[in-house]
Amino acid sequence: MPSAPKRRSLKRSNAHFAKASQALPLGVSSNFRYWGDEHTIYIKEGRGGRITDIDDNRYVDYRMGYGPGILGYADERVDAAARDGMNIGGVFALSTEREYEVAQRISKMVPAAELVRFSNSGTEAVMAALRLARAFTGKDGHIIVEGGYHGIFDAVLWYADIEDWAESGGTPAIEAESAGIPGMLKKLAHFTPLNDANYLEDLLRKHHRDIGAFLIEPMMGNCCSITATREYVQAARELCDRYGVIMIVDEVKTGFRVARGGVQELMGFKADLCTFAKAVGNGYPISVVAGRADIMRQVGKGVVHGGTYTCHSVSLAAAAKTLEILDETDALETIADYGARLQAGMSDILNARNIAHSFVGHPSMGGLFFKETPPSNYRDWLDSDYTFYDTMAPELHELGVLCEPDSREPWFVCEAHARDDSLEHTLQAFATAVDLTSDKIMRQASNG
Ligand SMILES: Cc1ncc(COP(=O)(O)O)c(C=O)c1O
Repeated sequence: MPSAPKRRSLKRSNAHFAKASQALPLGVSSNFRYWGDEHTIYIKEGRGGRITDIDDNRYVDYRMGYGPGILGYADERVDAAARDGMNIGGVFALSTEREYEVAQRISKMVPAAELVRFSNSGTEAVMAALRLARAFTGKDGHIIVEGGYHGIFDAVLWYADIEDWAESGGTPAIEAESAGIPGMLKKLAHFTPLNDANYLEDLLRKHHRDIGAFLIEPMMGNCCSITATREYVQAARELCDRYGVIMIVDEVKTGFRVARGGVQELMGFKADLCTFAKAVGNGYPISVVAGRADIMRQVGKGVVHGGTYTCHSVSLAAAAKTLEILDETDALETIADYGARLQAGMSDILNARNIAHSFVGHPSMGGLFFKETPPSNYRDWLDSDYTFYDTMAPELHELGVLCEPDSREPWFVCEAHARDDSLEHTLQAFATAVDLTSDKIMRQASNG
């Protein structure tokens, strides 16, 4: 039996939680940051690929803020640019010349981005894309891929209830992700499983008169990086064209990460509209909606787009520098190489213990499964042993490796991981966590 490592102290985080929850619901500013009263941690600082919590526990971080930290925390190059941006003065309710410069860079990196508009968050970018699609097609409905997440606004906060569907069969029920979402919006949201072109065709044949947009993350950054096949993406592209539906490729997580031109470059196709956020500014809040000129030109012909804080001079300067680095250096190759070495090391550890597993997605945002072949959609995900993952994640936290507690979030790699010797520490911790998890699961089984 592996000897259990010393548990980390969360004394300060626990005390802070008790205080913070008096002022903030759940003690945090996003529901996803609440990990339970005992396990919610508060961060003191992040540097490179590591973060330190207020109890001085240090972690190699593979959440990277759910992806924005593409280069690493407090990247000197980006932060210097951001400081220059601060000297410009903030927001003016008027534009600056730099918006054009950054838009040009994006159009060069992503061929589908013929025209570009900026926002602050992924949510705002997807909201704008959906509005453009509705305006262009005159159709209000949209399709979401089962397991997909597209932000925190009402039109997309619906999900196909796959976990209950496994027991009941038929078509998964569609449920609201939150209380307070108007029930009348439900009829706008249609769902389809990834990698099933026949299902999509059937859905479009029946409902295309009501459906203006097909929202897809071909590499599902909120569903373990389950990935579409090239054939599926091609078929979906053709179906959207045939039925007059705007294909919105949500690259909020994959954009400027899995390739310079995002998942569209990897898979060799073009969206009608696409959205970017996370990696655009290495963590500074900025996002992008971009796409076909004829659709984007709806802005100015009736479609409203904007916001007080769009293109804050700090975020814009950070984006200009981050995109320059991603475009002109080998940062993305370094990240992919680290991710590949991380996965190879994990595989060696799991193979030595005869534990079936597979990886899916891209090495820069890989999903780990405890099954020989990765799932091809969210329905298949139910067949993988996610209990092993869910038991292992807290052990990794104790050992100084921070991954998301929920197996549906991929492991995000940043450029700094490759610089600061994170790999050896990660793999040592991973081996120990695997052994502790196997032991725990065995003991639970023998206790009935
Ligand atoms: C694919 C995708 N779209 C949209 C969003 C929403 O982005 P934000 O949290 O910046 O509003 C996210 C957030 O994780 C995302 O992963």
